[in-house]
Amino acid sequence: MILTDKLARRTHEVEWSGIRIMFALADEISDVVNLGIGQPDFDTPAFIRDAAKEALDEGFTRYPPAKGFTDLRLAIATKLKTENNISADPHTEIFVAVGAMQAIFNTCLHLLNQGDEVIVIDPGYDYYSQIRLFGGVPVPVTVHESNRFKVDPADIEAAISEKTKLMIINTPSNPTGALFDEDILRAIADMAIAHDIWVLSDEPYEHILFDGHRHVSIGAFEGMRERTISAFTLSKSYAMTGWRVGYAVAPKVIIDEMEKLMEHMVSGVTAMAQRAALAAITAPQDCVKDMVSTYDQRRHVVHEGLNAIEGITCIKPESTFYAFPNISATGMSSWDFAKYLVKEHQVAVVPGSIFGKGGEGFVRFSFAAGMEQLKEGIARIERGVNALKRS
Ligand SMILES: Cc1ncc(COP(=O)(O)O)c(C=O)c1O
Repeated sequence: MILTDKLARRTHEVEWSGIRIMFALADEISDVVNLGIGQPDFDTPAFIRDAAKEALDEGFTRYPPAKGFTDLRLAIATKLKTENNISADPHTEIFVAVGAMQAIFNTCLHLLNQGDEVIVIDPGYDYYSQIRLFGGVPVPVTVHESNRFKVDPADIEAAISEKTKLMIINTPSNPTGALFDEDILRAIADMAIAHDIWVLSDEPYEHILFDGHRHVSIGAFEGMRERTISAFTLSKSYAMTGWRVGYAVAPKVIIDEMEKLMEHMVSGVTAMAQRAALAAITAPQDCVKDMVSTYDQRRHVVHEGLNAIEGITCIKPESTFYAFPNISATGMSSWDFAKYLVKEHQVAVVPGSIFGKGGEGFVRFSFAAGMEQLKEGIARIERGVNALKRS
């Protein structure tokens, strides 16, 4: 107790992740089908694992450069040019990070002063702790199921104030599976330029797109490079969540700060993981296509299966491996519904309210799980919803 009193005040701005709380509950129960997890169920492709093993034998066992190996940054620059239409100087504008997460954390750390407002999407990925830790004030902009959870730029415009320092945009979006179309991103870019606001574009799901959709990076638009930090990662595209390799593309002034702090913080991303990342990025991208095609097959099954449950509706996600079914007809809060499902029917999903007030009445259902598990999970949810009707 006394020790708790001695902790720095800023620690109180950081909250335990709601997802972890949910999983702790699931861990106490046996035979749970866990459809809450936000990471690919695939193993990292063999050629990537081999690259890491070879790197160890080649002597990549020492401190790496704080902002990443030069050849990796060169490969990232080529990828950014060809896939994202972003021109970045590999020597000054690219930083290899400990996942997209570090790029997000550092962005908040480098940009925010006490009282700066940060626009976030609600429901959206949870950036609240990082924002508050550095004195920022999150300003949620609600997205609606009726608009397929795509943000209406007019709602962003209405949320901008003189204090707005940063907007955080995540498309393809976790947890809704929404994709923000090019015209939406252009409107956001125009507002960022007109009001002189920074944009953090968090793009971990850039490759997980369906129905021929194309990913657009807001940092590619004219006038945006100088005000955009784009965060990418190998976690989702290559099933590499545990390797902790991502990267940030940003103006030199931000990359310099990231590099400077990295020296004081963790001195770089694990050398062999960077070598594996280099192999992943420079190889033919068949492994990514194969995984996305499997997600797509599951997406159809999940969409049909959830909509077949009386009392649940679910729009078809355009991207990511998440469905975001509407459970409001059950009359339960999303936390109560998720707790009920895991305790009584051994199936774990994530309460939508973890992703903001706008997520109330929804749950996040991940289809980064095998087909058998998905079918079993849907059957358990159906049993759970039907039992509610009888009670
Ligand atoms: C929207 C979003 N941003 C960032 C991250 C963090 O990714 P990484 O593993 O690259 O740190 C995740 C992971 O789930 C995510 O969904």
